[in-house]
Amino acid sequence: MTKEHTQKKLIDRFGRQVEYVRLSVTDRCDLRCFYCMPKSHKEFQAPAHWLDTGEIERVIRAFTTLGTRRVRITGGEPLTRHDLTGLVQRLAALPMLEDLSLSTNAIRLEKFATPLRQAGIQRINVSLDTLDAVKFKQITQGKLDKVIRGLMAAKEAGFQPIKINMVVMQGINDHEVLEMVDFCAEHGFTLRFIETMPMGETGRNAQNHYISLHRIKARLARRYTLIPDIMPGGGPARYVRITGTDTKIGFITPISQHFCDTCNRVRLSVDGTLYMCLGQNHRFALRPLLRQGISDEALQQAITQAIDLKPERHEFTEKPSQVVRFMSMTGG
Ligand code: GTP
Ligand code: 5AD
Ligand code: SF4
Repeated sequence: MTKEHTQKKLIDRFGRQVEYVRLSVTDRCDLRCFYCMPKSHKEFQAPAHWLDTGEIERVIRAFTTLGTRRVRITGGEPLTRHDLTGLVQRLAALPMLEDLSLSTNAIRLEKFATPLRQAGIQRINVSLDTLDAVKFKQITQGKLDKVIRGLMAAKEAGFQPIKINMVVMQGINDHEVLEMVDFCAEHGFTLRFIETMPMGETGRNAQNHYISLHRIKARLARRYTLIPDIMPGGGPARYVRITGTDTKIGFITPISQHFCDTCNRVRLSVDGTLYMCLGQNHRFALRPLLRQGISDEALQQAITQAIDLKPERHEFTEKPSQVVRFMSMTGG
């Protein structure tokens, strides 16, 4: 048999191959974006429940044995985890992992951009909804200048591409879309727009500001000629390029045009729970198995069993109240 025939794969009940793990290394965050986490939120996972570096490495190694080639580190805010650089080094050394990336709010990126790149992070995505410092404070409770310094440090450190994630909200930041395109074009960043999702009470409240990205695209098309394009990455964004330039813009449209039929990912939360879908509650607890001393083979079997629970699609529109966890608990 050739190597290809012996290669194990995770295929779900709907024929989709899972090859991308979104790894949440903390549920804590140093911002409080109003659509994500309540200002007063304090019920975080106890440190005793956090998977440690060795446990995370074991789970990710098992996934790579089962065909996973991409891991994205998320949070909460991943840079708040003090042992992150060491964890990145361990994951980067896994021989079958091809794409190790990170999503961050960039508040602490100025200090960590170069160490993270040296440790083995290949690509960085940064959340940024506005270029107005007052608005930024209103949305996040934090300081915009730290994010801008973090972004410049990421550029300096040589990350390429750098993608900016902007949650577009009507009446809050939708008027800044063109300005954001100019900013990203100037710095060589790729801008991606995201539709608000009803994750937890915060996300549901934010649905008052929902705007379909079809409308944003139409607005852009009045100013630019846009042609379909592609970008390296494993996520659900669909891209266009502004003709005559290298500037690419991505659209992440979970509500107006969902992408569940091509879903390739699962999420591992900081307490060792596998979440099968961002918009559903199907889950599988790995931590008890890890702490009972499960063998590598049985761990792979458990993961394969978990994948059988993966639902066909989210139901954000049909059942907007069903997901009570905030986005920060699974890292988007
Ligand atoms: P690339 O590999 O660069 O394509 O990254 P990515 O888009 O997969 O990662 P990122 O963390 O930047 O994701 C951006 C946002 O896309 C997330 O915060 C979510 O809001 C959204 N997103 C990613 N995956 C899913 C998904 O499976 N379902 C839904 N509904 N939204 C998703
Ligand atoms: N809807 C859409 N995006 C959200 N994010 C957090 N909460 C929501 C929501 N309710 C985004 C953040 C960040 C990523 C982790 O998820 O802005 O880009
Ligand atoms: Fe996949 Fe669920 Fe995301 Fe849909 S919402 S793309 S099924 S993880």
